[in-house]
Amino acid sequence: MTPIALELLAPSLGPFGRSSTLPAEAYTNGSVFRWEQEHFFDRSWVCIGRADGLEYASPQRVAEWHGWLFANASGDAPPFEEHAGNLEDLVRNHGCEELVVAAGHDYQIAANWKILAENYHECYHCSSIHPELCEVSPPTSGGDNLEPEGAWIGGPMDLYEGVQTMSLDGKSHAPNLSRLAEGQNRTVYYFQLFPNLLISLHPDYVMTHRLLPLAPDCTAVECEWLFSREAVEQGGFDPSYATDFWDVTNRQDWHACEAVQRGVSSRGYRRGPLSPREDAVYQLITMVANGYLEGGVARPASRAPGARR
Ligand SMILES: [Fe+2]
Repeated sequence: MTPIALELLAPSLGPFGRSSTLPAEAYTNGSVFRWEQEHFFDRSWVCIGRADGLEYASPQRVAEWHGWLFANASGDAPPFEEHAGNLEDLVRNHGCEELVVAAGHDYQIAANWKILAENYHECYHCSSIHPELCEVSPPTSGGDNLEPEGAWIGGPMDLYEGVQTMSLDGKSHAPNLSRLAEGQNRTVYYFQLFPNLLISLHPDYVMTHRLLPLAPDCTAVECEWLFSREAVEQGGFDPSYATDFWDVTNRQDWHACEAVQRGVSSRGYRRGPLSPREDAVYQLITMVANGYLEGGVARPASRAPGARR
């Protein structure tokens, strides 16, 4: 039943601070990939895009959430509200349902979809590959990643003082989203709604990565940037301040992820320990390993108190 034997998963399910990455099979094996497609995707809620302009057959089970459409191919996943859980409370102020897509980029990366998600969940790598990001956001910033109720993982990071948003010069060219709470104009939130939607909430725009696994070692990514209608309708609006920054950063990440994929595919691959700065990666890895054992979307393991991003 489980696509990977318990003895191979056990090191990944150790206590936070003493656990390891997943075994190579999780990133390279075709039967594990197909198992994930059935149990993590078809039997769960998969983001199929923005609701605007999407047509779908009415036998299909879909849910609309903040302007995104999610489909449950098997028809018997738990209710979507249970799936999203308290992520609802954390995204509400950004009013994503009212935002419009102003730009998009499609990428294809020679790496497993979980490597992309693991990369998204830590900034341990930022100081070595993201010089532009480190100019606007301290790579060690942010508090603990948040405790999820639901199938999501993530948490906040800060902007440097004087920086308005994630852009190459730290300046914004759009008004801030209108319903932010105090302090949210200084914060960027990074969330994964399992399995395939990465939602990055900025003070003035929202970026998403929609992961479309094509093969164990290949993932298509649809990246979209959403702004308020007010911003998009202002004369001369140009989203490139946001898209240029993230296109540079995305490509740095894809390069790193492809190198990781080559590593896990090598006969010399040995599993490594997780850093104490990779608590969200720990959550994802334990969610996946528990999912393999339980036969579907599972909860991440709890981390030790005081663990920091
Ligand atoms: Fe990165």
